[in-house]
Amino acid sequence: MAVISTDISEAVHALNEGQVIGIPTETVYGLAGNALDGDSVARIFEVKERPSFDPLIVHISDLDQVDKYCEEVPESLAKLAEKYWPGPLTLLLPKKEIIPDIVTSGLKRVAIRVPSHSLTRELLHQLDFPLAAPSANPFGYISPTSAAHVEAQLGAKISMVLDGGESQVGLESTIVGMEENEVVVYRLGGLSLDEIESEIGKVKVKSHSSSNPQAPGLLKSHYAPKVPFLLGNISKFLKDIKPESNKVGILSLNAEFSGFPEVNQIQLSSSGNLNEAAQNLFAAMRKLDDLDLELILAEPMPEKGLGKAINDRLRRAAAKG
Ligand code: TXA
Ligand code: MG
Repeated sequence: MAVISTDISEAVHALNEGQVIGIPTETVYGLAGNALDGDSVARIFEVKERPSFDPLIVHISDLDQVDKYCEEVPESLAKLAEKYWPGPLTLLLPKKEIIPDIVTSGLKRVAIRVPSHSLTRELLHQLDFPLAAPSANPFGYISPTSAAHVEAQLGAKISMVLDGGESQVGLESTIVGMEENEVVVYRLGGLSLDEIESEIGKVKVKSHSSSNPQAPGLLKSHYAPKVPFLLGNISKFLKDIKPESNKVGILSLNAEFSGFPEVNQIQLSSSGNLNEAAQNLFAAMRKLDDLDLELILAEPMPEKGLGKAINDRLRRAAAKG
């Protein structure tokens, strides 16, 4: 069992020894190890049961560290970094030799991010190396937004989870890079498209492909609950499928459905706030997944602000064949 602790010095000690541990970030919890040490990074892949072709994000303490690990930062991406770091933004940048190939799965670009969670920033400041960290879930399952989520699934394989409370953003970071001279968003996430475009103008979004060679981890069926998960008009599903009322879970923005037990229904935000909905999304999916239901029905969110990224995750959850 992993120890759940708020003790940074314990985390520093474990990471200096080459261990991998759970760490909080504002987006989701990460499974972290020394990004400059191939053995620690290999252990991350092993614990997560992640295929080696799926590269990891490197977390650094401050914007000024980026030159140590990357050849250059194109101007548009530098603008985004200055505005939104620390925060839920990951940049794909040409890597320097110091980043081991195992981190990037042999790709020439490395994914870099400055997280804003205060505990993890303090942790990074106390380390002599950056942290490679994928989301701390078994490959293909829903990302964790609390220390308890990490412990529940990976606790048997790691020594500790640094407890930073519930993740405040609740969705993984938005991943951005350049192709030719064009800015491309590879994964919608905790930083909205509007926020990006308000800074640097219109960008291209390439996050829907099921086999995106630039971000091999963005497989179509990701973030998937174990229970069959349908996305669409909930009332219509209920009418068409007529599921047994105590065997169906319902995930909505703020609608309630009569005739179905309240415990099996989750409203992501009673006021319809999409930031709040994002924050609650993964915990809600896990909760419904653990209720021993036969089916989960979910509705898409309004396509604005973080609603787009939430819908991306809901579609991936529903795509499991
Ligand atoms: O918010 C987040 O980004 C969280 C926290 C822990 O920072 N991390 C996270 O990592 O979501 P992960 O590994 O679950 O997702 C990272 C995604 C993967 O889909 C991977 O394929 C893509 O980023 N990625 C990482 N490095 C890449 C690279 N060099 N080129 C292209 N895609 C990359
Ligand atoms: Mg992940």
